Amino acid sequence: MASGQLSREEALECSSSRHACHVMLYSDTASLLFGRTPIRHIVLMQMRFDGLLGFPGGLVDPLEETLEEGLTRELLEELGVAVPVSVEDYVESCFAPSHPPTSSSSSSPLILHFYVKKIEEEQIREIEKAAASTAVDHGLEVLGMVRVPLYSTKSHAGFSCFLSHSFIGNARSQLVDSLLRLHLVSPGELRRALRSSQR
Ligand code: APR
Ligand code: MG
Ligand code: MG
Repeated sequence: MASGQLSREEALECSSSRHACHVMLYSDTASLLFGRTPIRHIVLMQMRFDGLLGFPGGLVDPLEETLEEGLTRELLEELGVAVPVSVEDYVESCFAPSHPPTSSSSSSPLILHFYVKKIEEEQIREIEKAAASTAVDHGLEVLGMVRVPLYSTKSHAGFSCFLSHSFIGNARSQLVDSLLRLHLVSPGELRRALRSSQR
């Protein structure tokens, strides 16, 4: 187990910690960019109130709700749609990277629980519509949903350019690890994108 990681059971025993759950929602797509570049998969992230990219989800209280109930509640607030997330969608738990010393947030450790759920392209469209209209957090905690460009073309960096933005906590590594594990990008494509995103 990687450093900072803990099992779901160990995580739930940490009653003095705060807990947060986030999910990567994705689908397949047959769409072509400019009629020729296969987009292949739609992966949803969001532009947060703090200007950072992250996954939908948020703080949950395991004394009041299960992790999945808390995550589903957060998704309703942030996406405007109830997307039921279950234990089968759970990926991993880890301690959040430590907060900067200037941070005003509580000093109790934060445990992050990460989920991945595959949905239909049509559901992605419904989520995007609701997130920009009926979601109570729209324009407040969440400034907008974004799709991750997983392709690079000769003239557009796409994926590597996206990876060079700023992400909350471990959202960038959660994205990269999930794309590899689910074979949404090949190891070669990922290596090339990571290399050029650091230039
Ligand atoms: N990796 C690591 N940390 C993350 C990630 C991630 N992928 N996503 C979010 N976090 C951290 C955030 O920094 C935050 O401290 O998890 C915590 C909760 O996640 P949010 O989605 O921001 O929580 P939410 O409940 O939706 O919003 C409450 O209001 O009071 C503020 O700062 C508070 O961000 C919190 C927000
Ligand atoms: Mg929230
Ligand atoms: Mg949130």
